[in-house]
Amino acid sequence: MSSNKTRIVVLGSLNMDVVLRCDTMPARGETVHAQSLSYIPGGKGGNQAVACARHGAQVALVGAVGRDAHGEELRNALVLDGIDVSHVAVHDGVATGSAVVMVEQDGSNRIAVIPGANALADLPASFAETLKASDFLVVQFETPLDVLDRAMAVAHAVGCKVVLNPSPVKAVPSAWWPMIDTLVANEHEAAELSGMAVADAHSALAAAQHFLSQGVRRVVVTLGSQGALALDASGHSVHPAPKVQVVDTTSAGDTFLGTMTTRLGEGCTLAQAVEWAIQAAALCIGRAGAQPSIPQRSEVKAP
Ligand code: RIB
Repeated sequence: MSSNKTRIVVLGSLNMDVVLRCDTMPARGETVHAQSLSYIPGGKGGNQAVACARHGAQVALVGAVGRDAHGEELRNALVLDGIDVSHVAVHDGVATGSAVVMVEQDGSNRIAVIPGANALADLPASFAETLKASDFLVVQFETPLDVLDRAMAVAHAVGCKVVLNPSPVKAVPSAWWPMIDTLVANEHEAAELSGMAVADAHSALAAAQHFLSQGVRRVVVTLGSQGALALDASGHSVHPAPKVQVVDTTSAGDTFLGTMTTRLGEGCTLAQAVEWAIQAAALCIGRAGAQPSIPQRSEVKAP
């Protein structure tokens, strides 16, 4: 592996997404016909690892699957993207994680996750050594909190930068804030964690300033079709999103995070990295499914 590649460890979930495309979502108590049913590799950890790898990073994934057909398929898919899966544990007696993803005609989705083997994810014995040789540790909230807690402490001790995607959102322990290099949150997560309303770039900036005051070094708030707001010690920048035909928004946030992190490791400023990430996410939402929709680096046009 050449040394100028960004080296990223993703600690996170692997899910088989059970995807239903519907004209409209069923209301409470209502039954609707779906147009299609598909099984597609996903999970926030897997998606972010794939986004990093397709954008040119050297990636290792730490996670867990069950000893079943879905687990094998998910691991094989990661290997095809050149991701090191030697720290993806395979457990007997528990099913691989899954997610029911309902996608509406306008491309928006609703997701319910069944953790399965993700609940058994743990750090390998060599974790500190692996992080010492890495630029970033990327984490989300589909992995048990105590495992994330230990992982963050190790990363902090060895000087590996932590990128946190607080999704699905839950409270961030206060001791974590100063250990977070980059926080990437959507408007809902930023609102929940800051206690402020976040609806546009202006309100996102106030929330981002709050996170910086807690000790986070860089903050990005993604705002869907409104783009993103980035803030670090050098100031803030606002990044509009290109107008595209939306097919499926699943994994757009994961694509954004993976592209941005890879570019940061290559020496881009936060604003430059976010510009690349927005272009990649725009490609992702024009395609269906989680991992199949994540673009290769060569597809992402220069901002
Ligand atoms: O971020 C999208 C992902 O969230 C899906 O692939 C699903 O598995 C859930 O983890």
